[in-house]
Amino acid sequence: MHWLVTLVALVIAVPAFAQHQQHTFAVHPNTNLHGRFLHITDIHLDPHYQNGATIKSGCHNQPKKHRKKKQRKGKLSGYWGAPTTDCDSSEPWVYHAIKTIADDWKDKIDFIVWTGDNARHDLDKKIPRTKEEILALNYKITTALQEEFRDENNKTIPIVPCIGNNDVHPHNQLRSTASSTLDAYSKLWSDMIPREQQEVFRQGGYFAVNILPGIRVLSLNTLYFFESNDQVLACKDPKSAGKRHLEWIREELTKARKMQARVYVIGHVPPSSRTFYGSCLTAYTQLSIEFRDVIAAHLYGHVNYDHFIVLQQEQQSQEENRIINIQKDSGRYITNLKHQYQQVNGNDQDKAVVVHVAPPILPIYYPGFRINEYDNDSKSTHFGTWTRYHQYYCNLTYWNNEKQHHALPRFELEYSTDEAYAMDNLTVGSWLDLAHRMTRKTDESRALWNTYVDNIFVQTEHDDD
Ligand SMILES: *[C@@H]1O[C@H](CO)[C@@H](O)[C@H](O)[C@H]1NC(C)=O
Ligand SMILES: *[C@@H]1O[C@H](CO)[C@@H](O)[C@H](O)[C@H]1NC(C)=O
Ligand SMILES: *[C@@H]1O[C@H](CO)[C@@H](O)[C@H](O)[C@H]1NC(C)=O
Ligand SMILES: *[C@@H]1O[C@H](CO)[C@@H](O)[C@H](O)[C@H]1NC(C)=O
Repeated sequence: MHWLVTLVALVIAVPAFAQHQQHTFAVHPNTNLHGRFLHITDIHLDPHYQNGATIKSGCHNQPKKHRKKKQRKGKLSGYWGAPTTDCDSSEPWVYHAIKTIADDWKDKIDFIVWTGDNARHDLDKKIPRTKEEILALNYKITTALQEEFRDENNKTIPIVPCIGNNDVHPHNQLRSTASSTLDAYSKLWSDMIPREQQEVFRQGGYFAVNILPGIRVLSLNTLYFFESNDQVLACKDPKSAGKRHLEWIREELTKARKMQARVYVIGHVPPSSRTFYGSCLTAYTQLSIEFRDVIAAHLYGHVNYDHFIVLQQEQQSQEENRIINIQKDSGRYITNLKHQYQQVNGNDQDKAVVVHVAPPILPIYYPGFRINEYDNDSKSTHFGTWTRYHQYYCNLTYWNNEKQHHALPRFELEYSTDEAYAMDNLTVGSWLDLAHRMTRKTDESRALWNTYVDNIFVQTEHDDD
């Protein structure tokens, strides 16, 4: 009860100091543009995480015996986290990660896209998640980001959030109409959602924001397309929430085309035959192809692998649609991905959609974040196009070993798209070209594929090929 009262008080208190983002553009038109933005995703904060706990308990319980032996065998959690396990993120890691990313980048980026799943997974039957806990965890992360990413004028730089499948209770389940959940998030994120979009968000959990003159972000509510959400119907049903959402996306993209704005589409669950209702995926794919001149990128989280998915109009029925536990079935996932890339035709850029999944702050492999770059020359017709990204990661195995934890973990550059993949820009054509270059039967191609697979698992050990 205590929880609930505190939370309600917090949520109500938010709007009072949150009314500053009311103009059409989040950033003043004359602001110097850095040409960079941060993508951060899947934080999965777990307040029950304990240092030295057994991996088997989800890092929640201390071992009853054989502590030394278990430690030696790597079966106990570390201070910062338990990389390459199913454990969620420790509090020290989450707050440190947000602070260190902000310290390094806040004066070099123009905005942040933040693609959901802030709350821990529901893995421990002894401490089931509650709606109150999920909202409280989201409150903590929201506050941490808003506090750390303040510019020199003490103003938070624009952040665009979206709802993850673990940010609702029970996980994956969100009603198709206005609900107390959407209401709570609309209050929590009221200074990130433009005023004229707040009603849209309360009704559907999605919204649009003009982040800069000429750059618009659409934050989607992918739970309305998600096959695991039993509360909604597939998009072929005219009354479905997904259908409504698709209509809204179309209106927004049409508006953006008229404004000559470039659009970054963001969401939590990436569109794929594994995740979306078939009719929702088909419609999403068609819409994305129709508006390919407007959409700069599709940026997602959820899957934890660092990779891109190619959607093609005709391919959906061929692909297997079984729900697999991808963490335990990574070999098959990678094989299917390679197969998908092999089918890509370099001339298909008018018929294909490329969807990007960034790796998480959650140390399921090594944690990471992405610094994206876009063309910031406002006089160019390519203004806003996605040009390059730098992927950063943190070797938590190393930092867990540092004596006494006096040394604070640092992120390091993992790879950049121009150097690692020889890409001049990140347009659809360039990704299809990469898909092609990685899957030929040459030594060079195989080496490139191996680099790509190492990046998928963020440099951790893996036995997939
Ligand atoms: C574009 O970004 C680069 C790198 O941050 C910066 O040096 C340059 O001044 C920016 N150009 C414009 C027109 O803002
Ligand atoms: C920055 O703004 C926050 C919230 O508006 C306020 O609590 C804090 O005191 C301000 N800090 C400075 C240095 O002005
Ligand atoms: C991470 O750190 C561990 C422990 O120091 C080391 O064995 C491993 O090679 C490192 N991995 C990478 C990719 O740096
Ligand atoms: C992207 O790079 C490709 C290959 O280098 C080039 O052909 C294309 O014109 C570039 N597109 C843009 C928008 O810069």
